[in-house]
Amino acid sequence: PAGVVPSDDLAGRTVVVTAGGTREPLDPVRYLGNRSSGKQGVALAREAARRGARVRLIAAHVDGDMRDAAAVLTGVTVEDVSTADELARAVTAAASEADIVIMAAAVADYRPETVAEGKLKKDAVGESLTLTLVQTPDILAGLAAARRPGQVVVGFAAETAADRDELLARGRAKAARKGADLLVLNAVGWQHGFGADNTTVVVIRADGEIVAEASGSKDEAARAVFDAVGCLPTA
Ligand code: CTP
Ligand code: CA
Repeated sequence: PAGVVPSDDLAGRTVVVTAGGTREPLDPVRYLGNRSSGKQGVALAREAARRGARVRLIAAHVDGDMRDAAAVLTGVTVEDVSTADELARAVTAAASEADIVIMAAAVADYRPETVAEGKLKKDAVGESLTLTLVQTPDILAGLAAARRPGQVVVGFAAETAADRDELLARGRAKAARKGADLLVLNAVGWQHGFGADNTTVVVIRADGEIVAEASGSKDEAARAVFDAVGCLPTA
């Protein structure tokens, strides 16, 4: 790609990246989950390390080989979590020492209100099963509200949108709600997005202004994100 990408512009910085998708247990053997592979989060961790940062990767069910490959990178440490609650605790603790926090994980919006102590049995449950789900806390909004001066908080938003205008409209509404410094928008559907090798991202500021765009591999998207971070007045 054109342009000069500095190789060590994150030297001395601490970057926290969440990756993968959380799982919310129903009983000891079942969970509610999502299709996130963790590929984008791992690409972000790799790119941050390449630029000289110390990186803490908070991994929620990142595909095994990818997770292990990230864990052996110089400067990268991996912490495994499972539920939205665990992820919230891990990232909140790590954020206290972070210059940049990136919420790339797909966090469950709802979890079962109760978790059965033993495996749910058909003869006890009957013909149909109704689950009550309760909202999980919005971790990104919490991090954005609590950020220190100079700390940069970045969110992701995967939207099912018909076109770029719809993606931007949804993204701008979400950016205003979250209050993060940057929101990375990408379009997903049944065919593309989760698990895919390629992606198209549009990076916007909290005020909705577009600051970067990239189309290609998730590595290229990761470069665009850190370039955009580097252009923030706070960074
Ligand atoms: N996120 C979070 N905590 C949650 C849910 C989402 O921190 N409980 C983060 C994600 O990691 C992502 C950003 O918020 O960085 C946007 O997630 P998204 O699912 O697009 O937004 P929601 O606010 O959950 O809205 P909705 O799913 O209804 O579109
Ligand atoms: Ca959500």
